[in-house]
Amino acid sequence: MAATSNPRKVEEVRKEVDRLNAEARTADQLMEGITILLNKEMLKYNWVGFYLLEPGADPPMLVLGHYQGAMTAHTRIPLNLGICGAAASSGKTVVVDDVKLDRRYLACSIETKSEIVVPVFVNGEVGGELDIDSHFLAAFADEDRELVEYCARLVGKRLERA
Ligand code: SME
Repeated sequence: MAATSNPRKVEEVRKEVDRLNAEARTADQLMEGITILLNKEMLKYNWVGFYLLEPGADPPMLVLGHYQGAMTAHTRIPLNLGICGAAASSGKTVVVDDVKLDRRYLACSIETKSEIVVPVFVNGEVGGELDIDSHFLAAFADEDRELVEYCARLVGKRLERA
C-alpha cells in the first residue's frame, strides 16, 4: 500500500501548478516551474525531471530536460530501457513501489526507493514524460498520481501550442 500524501497539501500544490501555468510564457518555463515546485513542496519527491522525445530521432530517444535533484547519468534513454522507456512506449503511467523489485529499473541514485513516470501527450501522441523518484518506498499514492498526471496534461497542452 502506498503511503498517502496529505490531500490538503496536494490540493494546495495543484493550485500552485495552475498559477504557474497561468504565468508561464512558454512550455519550457512551465516545465522548469513544475520541477522546482514539486521538488520543493512535495517532501517525498526527491528527484523531479522531464524527458522529451528527441525530434526526428530513429530509434526514438528520451532526452533529459529540466530537472531538480541529483545529477543523473541517464540523460538519454531509448524506449526499450528503464521505467522511463516503459512509460513512453506504453503511453501509460508507471508506478513502482520498490525499484529493487523491478528489473526494468535504471538506477540514478542509490537512495531512490520508488518511482513514478507519467507520459506527456502532445496531439494524442507521447511527446515526453514527467519522472519522479523518491527516497521512500511506495511514495506515490493515487492522489500523487493524479497530481503528477495533472502536471503532465498541462505541459502536453502547452507543447501543442509551441
Ligand atoms: N530510473 C529511471 C531512469 C531515470 S532516473 O530515475 C532520473 C528508469 O528506470 O527509467
